[in-house]
Amino acid sequence: MSTEVPPSLDDVRLRLSRLRERAEREVAAAPDAAALGALEVKFLGKKGELTGVLRALSALPPADRPRIGEEANRLKEALLGSIESRRAAIEEAALASSLAEEAFDVTVPPAAVPGATLGPKGHLHPLVAIQYRIEDIFVALGFSVMDGPEVETEFHNFEALNIPAHHPARDNQDTYWLEGGALLRTHTSPVQIRMMLEHRPPIRAIMPGRVFRREAIDASHENTFYQVEGLVIDEGISIANLISIMKTFLREVFGRDVTVRLRPGYFPFVEPGFELDIFCVFCEGRGCPVCKRSGWVEFLGCGLVHPEVLKHGRIDPERWSGFAFGMGLNRLAMLIYGIDDIRHFLAGDLRFLRQF
Ligand code: DAH
Repeated sequence: MSTEVPPSLDDVRLRLSRLRERAEREVAAAPDAAALGALEVKFLGKKGELTGVLRALSALPPADRPRIGEEANRLKEALLGSIESRRAAIEEAALASSLAEEAFDVTVPPAAVPGATLGPKGHLHPLVAIQYRIEDIFVALGFSVMDGPEVETEFHNFEALNIPAHHPARDNQDTYWLEGGALLRTHTSPVQIRMMLEHRPPIRAIMPGRVFRREAIDASHENTFYQVEGLVIDEGISIANLISIMKTFLREVFGRDVTVRLRPGYFPFVEPGFELDIFCVFCEGRGCPVCKRSGWVEFLGCGLVHPEVLKHGRIDPERWSGFAFGMGLNRLAMLIYGIDDIRHFLAGDLRFLRQF
C-alpha cells in the first residue's frame, strides 16, 4: 500500500502550471527543428511529463477529474501551438540566412580570367574568330550568311547534290546515320539546296557550320569539324567570277596577295569541278612540312553548280548558272595560326586556347 499522501486538486493544478512554464521556456529557446522534436517527445510524448502528471488523476475525487482533464488538454494544445510557431520561426530564419549567404550582386564585374587576351570577358575560340573574319569579308562583297541544320536528310546531304545511293562519292564521306534514316551532315553543301529551295536567284551566300564524319582521328583528321560553303547563282556566272571572288577573299583573309592554282577535281555537285591550291604561305614555295614539301597547300573544292543540282533546287539551268565552293575552317585556322594538330580545336585545353 502506498504511503504517499494523495495529491489535491490544487497540487495537480500547480504541477500543470509549472510544467507549462518550463515547457514554454524550453520551446522558446530550442535552437533547431531537431531540438524541438525532442522537446515535443519530452513533454507531450506517451511517456512524457504531461502523461506523468495525469497519472495522478486517478487519485483525485471523480468530480474533479474532468476539469483537470480539460485543463491538461488545453495545456497540450497550447504547447503544440508554441512548438509549431517556434518551428516556423526556425525555418524562416534558416531561409533568410541561406538567402543572405547565397545572394550575389549581378552588377559586380567578374574577376579577370588568367591569360585571357580580352580581359574578364574571355575571348573568341580561334575557329569562331576565323569564321567571323570570313563572314565580314563576304558580307562586304555583298553575300548573306545562312544557317542550315546539323541533322540532315539523305536528300539534302546526298541525293540533291547528285550523289545517289551506292555512288562511290559516299564512301569518302563516312556518315553517322541516325535512327529513321536521318544523318549528321557530312559537309555544308546541303545548305546550298536549302538556300535554292527557299530563295529565288540571284543568290549570293556563304553557309558556315559544323560537320561530322566517321573518321579515324589523327593530327589532320577529326570526326567533328567546320566548313564554310559558298554559293553564287545569277545569269552568266562563269569560272572567271569564281576565280576573282576566291582571289579577293584570299587576299583579305591572309592580308596579302596569295598565288592560287586550279586543278581539275571531282565533286558530283559541280561541273567542271576544281581543287584550289594556294602557294604555301609558310615557306613561300621552298617546301615545308605544312605543304608536304610540294610548295602548294590544298585549300578548297569548287566549281560550277551542276545543272542537276540546280534542278533539285527548282532553278532553271537554261537561264541561271552559278559557282559553289567549300572550304575547311579548321584547315584555314591551322594555316593562319600555324597550328599543327587539328585535335587541339575541340580538346578544350586552356593552354592552347589562351594563345589566341
Ligand atoms: N562538300 C565538299 C566536301 O566536303 C567540298 C566542296 C567541293 C564544296 C566543291 C563545294 C564544291 O561547294 O563546289 O568535301
